[in-house]
Amino acid sequence: MEFLPKNKIDLVITDPPFAINFKAKKANYNRISSRVISGYNEIKPEDYYDFTYLWMKEVFRVLKDSGSMYVFSGWNNLKDILCALDDVGFTTINHIIWKYQFGVVTKKKFVTSHYHCLYVCKNNEKRKFFPFSRFKKEDKTKEGRSLHYKDKEDVWDIKREYWTGDEKTPTKLPSELIEKLLHYSSEKKDIVMDPFLGSGQVAVVSKSLGRRYVGFEIVPDYYKFAKKRLDKNLYRVKKSN
Ligand SMILES: C[S@@+](CC[C@H](N)C(=O)[O-])C[C@H]1O[C@@H](n2cnc3c(N)ncnc32)[C@H](O)[C@@H]1O
Repeated sequence: MEFLPKNKIDLVITDPPFAINFKAKKANYNRISSRVISGYNEIKPEDYYDFTYLWMKEVFRVLKDSGSMYVFSGWNNLKDILCALDDVGFTTINHIIWKYQFGVVTKKKFVTSHYHCLYVCKNNEKRKFFPFSRFKKEDKTKEGRSLHYKDKEDVWDIKREYWTGDEKTPTKLPSELIEKLLHYSSEKKDIVMDPFLGSGQVAVVSKSLGRRYVGFEIVPDYYKFAKKRLDKNLYRVKKSN
C-alpha cells in the first residue's frame, strides 16, 4: 500500500486476519480439507494492534475524502480494531452485525454466529452514501413494511456461501454482503480496495458491478487463485447500478 498515491481509493471493504490462530485446514469448518488451499497467514494476538494500526494508517492515506471503509472482525480481537480505527483518525458511522449460520454446536458456551462490520470514513461531510440504491421509499415487504427501512437496519442476516469448485480458500465473504456494501457506498468506475484479498471475492464482485479494484494478498497460492477467479469472471450478477 505504501506505493499507492494518496487520496485515490473510493471504498475499502476488507476482512483482515483475526489473530485467532485460524488454521486453513481446520476440520470443524465442515469442509473436505484437502480442497482448501493451505498457507493462510495469521497474525499473533500480541502483534495484532500494531499490525492493524499500520495497515489502517495506509488505508487512511490512500482513501479519498469522500471515501469510506467497511472492516469485518470477529469479537476476539475487536478491541484492537476499534482502538486502531480511533487512533488512526477514522470517524465511525455504523457498527453493523452480520448474522450468519455457523453450523457447529458448542457444549459449554453459546454458538458464535455473527461478525462485526465497522463502517468508518475519513471525512463525514464528504462521505458518499446512496440511501435509495437498493429500495425506494415506497417499496414494501409482503407484510406491508418498508423494505427501505428494513434494508438499512444494522443487523444483516446473510447466509454464508459455500464453494462449488475443487479448490478453495478457507474463508469467503458472501457475494450478497459485498454487493450490498458496494451499492450503498460506491458508484460505477469507483476504485474499491481490499488489502486482504483471500479468494479475491471483494475484487471479483466489484468487477462484476462495474467498479475498478485493487488489492493485496500475501500468500502466493491465494493470490494466484484470486487472479484466476478475476480473469475468468467467476462471478456475475444481473443487477446494475
Ligand atoms: C479473512 S481472509 C480474507 C478473505 C476474503 N475476504 C475472501 O472473501 O476471500 C484474510 C486474508 O489476509 C491474508 N493476509 C494476512 N496477512 C496479510 C498481509 N500482511 N498482507 C496481505 N494479505 C495478508 C491472509 O493470507 C488471508 O488470505
